[in-house]
Amino acid sequence: MTVEIERYRPEALVETVSMWRASKRSAFPYVAVIQQYTLEDDLGYFRDSVVAKCEVWLARREGRVVGMLALNGGLIDQLFVAVEAQGTGVGTALLRKAIDRSPEGLVLFTFRKNRPARAFYEKYGFRIVRFGVSAPPEREPDVEYRWTPKRDREAG
Ligand SMILES: CC(C)(COP(=O)(O)OP(=O)(O)OC[C@H]1O[C@@H](n2cnc3c(N)ncnc32)[C@H](O)[C@@H]1OP(=O)(O)O)[C@@H](O)C(=O)NCCC(=O)NCCS
Repeated sequence: MTVEIERYRPEALVETVSMWRASKRSAFPYVAVIQQYTLEDDLGYFRDSVVAKCEVWLARREGRVVGMLALNGGLIDQLFVAVEAQGTGVGTALLRKAIDRSPEGLVLFTFRKNRPARAFYEKYGFRIVRFGVSAPPEREPDVEYRWTPKRDREAG
C-alpha cells in the first residue's frame, strides 16, 4: 500500500495529534510525564511548539494520517508512526523526506531505552554521537544520533 507524504496543514491538527499521542504513549510506557499529558496538553504543545518551530510532514495511507515528521533544520524533532502502521515502511518514507530536505546531514535525540527506534535509525546509517539526559520535564537518559551522507563518511 502506497504512502503519500504531504505538508501538514492546520485542518489536520486533531487527527495528527491523536495519532502522535497514541504512538508516543505506546512507545514510552516508562516515561510517567508522557503518560500524564492530557489531550489538551498534547494539542497545545503540538500547535504552539512543534508546528511553530518545525517544518511538519504527514504520511497518509488511504487518506488517513499514519505518520508525522517534524524537522527543525537538520534536527529531527519528531518522527512518529501510527501504532497500527509500524513496521510497514511509513517511517522509512518519512526518513527519506528528512534526507531530501536536509541532504547535508541529520541529527536527532531518542531515549536510550527506545530500542526499536534505535535499530531503525542504525539500519539507515545513523551513528551514536553521545549519551546524555533529555531536558525536563522528561529527564530520561537519551542518545544523540547523527547521519551524514555517504561521501562524508567515506571521506573521513
Ligand atoms: C521507530 C519508527 C519511527 C520506525 O518506523 P516504522 O514505519 O515502524 O519502520 P519501517 O517499517 O519503515 O522499518 C524500516 C526498518 O527499520 C527497522 N525496524 C523498524 N522497526 C523496528 C523494530 N521495532 N525493531 C527492530 N528494527 C526495526 C527494520 O530493519 C525495518 O526494516 P524491515 O521491515 O525490512 O525489517 C516507528 O516504529 C515509530 O514511530 N515508533 C514509535 C515512536 C518512536 O519511537 N519514534 C521515534 C522517536 S525518536
